[in-house]
Amino acid sequence: MAIQERIPLPAPRSRLMGKVYLIGAGPGDPELLTLKAARLLAGAEIVLHDALVSNEVLAMTSPAAELINVGKRAGHKLLTQDEINALLVSYAKSRESVIRLKGGDPSIFGRAGEEIEALRKAGVDYEIVPGVTAALGAAAVAGISLTDRRIASQILLSTFSRRVDGSAMDWGSVSSTTTLVLYMPGADYAEVSERLLEGGLPADLPCVIVSNATGSRQQVRWSSVGQLSAEERLPAPALLIVGRVASRDVQGLGESFWGSDQKDRVSQQPSVI
Ligand SMILES: C[S@@+](CC[C@H](N)C(=O)[O-])C[C@H]1O[C@@H](n2cnc3c(N)ncnc32)[C@H](O)[C@@H]1O
Repeated sequence: MAIQERIPLPAPRSRLMGKVYLIGAGPGDPELLTLKAARLLAGAEIVLHDALVSNEVLAMTSPAAELINVGKRAGHKLLTQDEINALLVSYAKSRESVIRLKGGDPSIFGRAGEEIEALRKAGVDYEIVPGVTAALGAAAVAGISLTDRRIASQILLSTFSRRVDGSAMDWGSVSSTTTLVLYMPGADYAEVSERLLEGGLPADLPCVIVSNATGSRQQVRWSSVGQLSAEERLPAPALLIVGRVASRDVQGLGESFWGSDQKDRVSQQPSVI
């Protein structure tokens, strides 16, 4: 079905070129919105949002605002990325301001890059309003510090999802002091566990699965890289935090998970997954 049949395209008003705000909706809890995001939503005319944006956040938009869900439902895309880009440009030609609302932060696994490129090409002004990305919401819910300086020195935000271009994992950059946050881990934890083990991570390295972080249905499950395969799947959206910090008891974790040969680097040869 053509995009015009699904979502009516606005009639362009002459010479008006509005501004598009790419806004981060945070992980779920509306109190985690930035003040700027809340202000822009309260005055919104039109909001194009992803399916991940919580109802509580959507409830903060102006009652007069037109809300358009351009996201995925039950794995099915409502609109393609090209259609969303075209819609943004088209609305910018007929409205003073257009809000593109994305879960978490727009620049983290949010396809903001493609939308920015389309806006730039069309000469549309835009502004990014950052949001709390899911990794930070999940760490807060689990009550852990992602960069606990005693045992962590870097955070790696990644995904195994094959649908995301450029998602190949550079295992060479993962060290014993890396906290790895895996977005979109998928339904098959056994496969995730296998890939982490193949990457050289120790089986007893702690990990925590956080589902619906900061939302009313949030769940936290403590596990380890080896045990992960036996864990029951938690509802989406969920992510995985892997590393020494991903434990209820970080005291005394010291060197226990990594042999001396593994301490500095999991692998000297980056592998492509
Ligand atoms: C397409 S990515 C979008 C990430 C988003 N831009 C961000 O910064 O959080 C979607 C993935 O983010 C993670 N995610 C988003 N919201 C989450 C939440 N409330 N709790 C746990 N994971 C979440 C899940 O891994 C989900 O599959």
